Amino acid sequence: MKKIIRLCVPLLLIACFAMVLAYRIVSDRLPSADLPVNLQVLEIFEEGGCLSCHSSDPEVPFYAKMPVVGKIVMKDIDSGYRAFDIKPFMDAVAEDEAVNPVDLAKVEKVILDGRMPMPKYYLVHWGSSVTRAKQAVVLSWIRDLRASMYDDGLSGERAYEPVRPVDHVLPYDEDKAALGFALFHDPRLSLDNTVSCSTCHDIATAGVDNHRYSHGVDDQLGGVNAPTVFNAVYNFVQFWDGRAATLADQAAGPPLNPVEMASTSFDEIIAKLEKDKAFVRSFNAVYPDGLTQNNITDAIAHFERTLLTPDSRFDKWLRGDDGAITAEELEGYELFKKYDCATCHAGPVLGGHTYELMGLRNDYFADRGLEMTHEDNGRFKETGLERDRHRFKVPGLRNVEHTWPYYHDGTRETLEEAVRDMGYYQTGVELSQNEIKSITSFLKTLTGEYKGVPVYSNNSREDIDGHDHDHDH
Ligand code: HEC
Ligand code: HEC
Ligand code: HEC
Repeated sequence: MKKIIRLCVPLLLIACFAMVLAYRIVSDRLPSADLPVNLQVLEIFEEGGCLSCHSSDPEVPFYAKMPVVGKIVMKDIDSGYRAFDIKPFMDAVAEDEAVNPVDLAKVEKVILDGRMPMPKYYLVHWGSSVTRAKQAVVLSWIRDLRASMYDDGLSGERAYEPVRPVDHVLPYDEDKAALGFALFHDPRLSLDNTVSCSTCHDIATAGVDNHRYSHGVDDQLGGVNAPTVFNAVYNFVQFWDGRAATLADQAAGPPLNPVEMASTSFDEIIAKLEKDKAFVRSFNAVYPDGLTQNNITDAIAHFERTLLTPDSRFDKWLRGDDGAITAEELEGYELFKKYDCATCHAGPVLGGHTYELMGLRNDYFADRGLEMTHEDNGRFKETGLERDRHRFKVPGLRNVEHTWPYYHDGTRETLEEAVRDMGYYQTGVELSQNEIKSITSFLKTLTGEYKGVPVYSNNSREDIDGHDHDHDH
């Protein structure tokens, strides 16, 4: 008996050693360097089994049918797909097409942290682990791709940052924007001539009304917090639930919304505007076919393309001015990246690229203690797909210190609370007081300038739009 044991132990050790060696050799094998780099990366992701857990149609392994193991596997697949759908990203990489900046940031983060695939997966699926050598291939591809995605003049290391500066100007038509400016401030778009776009999106107050819910005609309350119109041009779709594809589509909504401007039709609005001969003359000079719904919303959209807030202190830092932000603010930015914030909140407005689940790591709605509302359904309202319930277009964070209260339900009064709760509900981290303070100080560096004047500097209201604000609120 003893003899057998004495024989077995070394044999077992040798077997183990051979396994580890074989494992390392298999795992370390890199895709052929002759392949174009996007295909090398694709191969690494394919070997990594990313599609097995992150797609609507996962490749379920045979052992998923086994009693105990199966349960674990199916749970990983469910929560993997809940957290991230990698299919659009993989397709774009395969075709060498533009990838979504948020997908790119998410993949970069898990590869950088060595979080994916999980050990329990790569220990079973030999060769799937993303070794240091593979990690290097993927990360350098991501950095180069990101630098080439933007034409914003960042250089050196900062060309690889997930957060990008706001453009100084985007193409627009000056005459149309001037008409759009007038229409944006024109209460005649509302039923009783009391409410304009500016009532809820005052340019002088960061493009918001600082109310939990907005007040429309007859002081009626809406059911969701008003996002800012500043930099909205960058959003991939408009509204929390994405129901408008473009700014012009969006602008057709509020005038006829019964709790906002409450007009009954664009014909009614046009009839009112047509009585204003001077306005009609200037309008027809720009739009030969005159006042139509499409022309009105097109003009507003051109005006909104000018609502950019460049030159924040953070943008100056991105462009190479090291002294533009303090050490604490920089520390806040590092934490913002460390805790995954910069994955969902990426790009020039730190958001507006994807729909994301509110309560990814902890159940936000269960803890909120308020009755569920129709608006809480988010994107689900539009698609009816269970996967889209509580998914919202990620809000941008430009000028966020001035756009309180926060979240779609307007339940967070201060930026500190909003940051703390994002940590808990979205990333599963209980941030310390110091971390909350640093991240908040970083977010405050995102306040930019509109036409050379800092956003929300009340003393310059008149300089900014020269209108009186009597009928606001
Ligand atoms: C065995 C299933 C499985 C495999 C294989 C897998 N993932 Fe995941 N992935 C998950 C799960 C589960 C989560 C959610 C993690 C959590 O909730 O803590 C996740 C989360 C993610 C996220 C979202 C960020 C996050 O932390 O929530 C990304 C991005 C991601 N995975 C990318 C990948 C990539 C890239 C690969 C391939 C290299 C991969 N995953 C392989 C199961 C998997
Ligand atoms: C009574 C207040 C009110 C008025 C008036 C109003 N809005 Fe809004 N606006 C909101 C609210 C609330 C939302 C969010 C609604 C949602 O997502 O379902 C919103 C959303 C938007 C968005 C989308 C921003 C984003 O990030 O998704 C834009 C752009 C916008 N409004 C522009 C306008 C324009 C242009 C007008 C005038 C034609 C206007 N709004 C009139 C309250 C108002
Ligand atoms: C998984 C994606 C995701 C991650 C990760 C994430 N956020 Fe968010 N963030 C969102 C979504 C979605 C909302 C809107 C939630 C709502 O309105 O109910 C939001 C809202 C916010 C808001 C409020 C903005 C406003 O105008 O209402 C702030 C501030 C914010 N996030 C900061 C952070 C910080 C700081 C972190 C990291 C600790 C973070 N986020 C991580 C998706 C994310």
